[in-house]
Amino acid sequence: MSLDNTIKEIQTSFHSDLSNCNTTTDLENIRITYLGRKGKITILFDDFVKLPGSEKPKYGKTLNVLKIELTTAFNQKLNELNPDKGGSNDSSADFSLPGYDLPKGSLHPLEQITSEIKSIFQSIGFSVAYGPEIDDDYHNFEALNVPKHHPARDMQDTFFIDPNTVLRTHTSNVQIHLMENQDPPIRHICCGRVFRNEAVSYKSFCLFNQVEGLVINESSSFAEMKGTLEYFVEEMFGKGTKMRFRPSYFPFTEPSAEVDIWNDKLNQWMEILGCGMVNPNVLTNVGYDNKKYQGFAFGMGIERIAMIKYGIKDIRLFYQNDKRFLEQF
Ligand code: PHE
Repeated sequence: MSLDNTIKEIQTSFHSDLSNCNTTTDLENIRITYLGRKGKITILFDDFVKLPGSEKPKYGKTLNVLKIELTTAFNQKLNELNPDKGGSNDSSADFSLPGYDLPKGSLHPLEQITSEIKSIFQSIGFSVAYGPEIDDDYHNFEALNVPKHHPARDMQDTFFIDPNTVLRTHTSNVQIHLMENQDPPIRHICCGRVFRNEAVSYKSFCLFNQVEGLVINESSSFAEMKGTLEYFVEEMFGKGTKMRFRPSYFPFTEPSAEVDIWNDKLNQWMEILGCGMVNPNVLTNVGYDNKKYQGFAFGMGIERIAMIKYGIKDIRLFYQNDKRFLEQF
């Protein structure tokens, strides 16, 4: 049979199939038979490739015209059978009506507070670093001037994975990683989860989040640290927030302090962070010259800050994923 006849035949049978078709299932079958990947039109194009070069221009044009004709007729039928999904010639849809409100998710309150803290410190030149949640005893304790059997280890009840591997009890391990991996100056914060083997209650949970800060250079001072943290408290809790530095003790800082802010509602001071000048022993541990370099570090609990800021009374709420709680933020 000549190609001309085949084309005519396909064209005729397509149109008669289409006019007899009343359901979308039949229509889909027509699509497969004619326009599908192994359909008659596709086969015609395969045959066309084998034609002698002199015949190609003529049939090329004929085949393209045929394909457009069948596709257009097919789409028209599709619109007739399926008016809801119709395209441009569907007049029943009113596109000016307001759309449906889809349920929206939102950021977890801890994530919101974390990004707020990050951008406050980024605005004064801190970069954001990350460090491991599972670490060796050396980075979590020893390099931070907390030797084995030191009583300060009791400040942080530890989850041990094996005698030498811990779930970090604070983000201070990242101080060591940062200093091991780069020379001063350092001006970084690090946010992340920390773990403590404590009795779970409204005020302590086995896991929580901290933000650590570390500044090392040749000139930083306790005064600069105070200024930095005062700026943070003002940005986070509002101008005029009352705060105080209270002497404290951490093995990795000397001198050390804790910062409290005044809570008007509860009428009491609330501790929000620990800080201090990096202990020269820590600088030696990472191979820095402690006569040349000095710096300060601070660490704060994110849950605690969120609880003070939003008046949340139970830390466990952050980890229960109760929508009634989460939807308030
Ligand atoms: N790592 C201390 C803690 O978890 C906080 C801290 C960090 C204190 C850095 C001083 C300097 O309690």
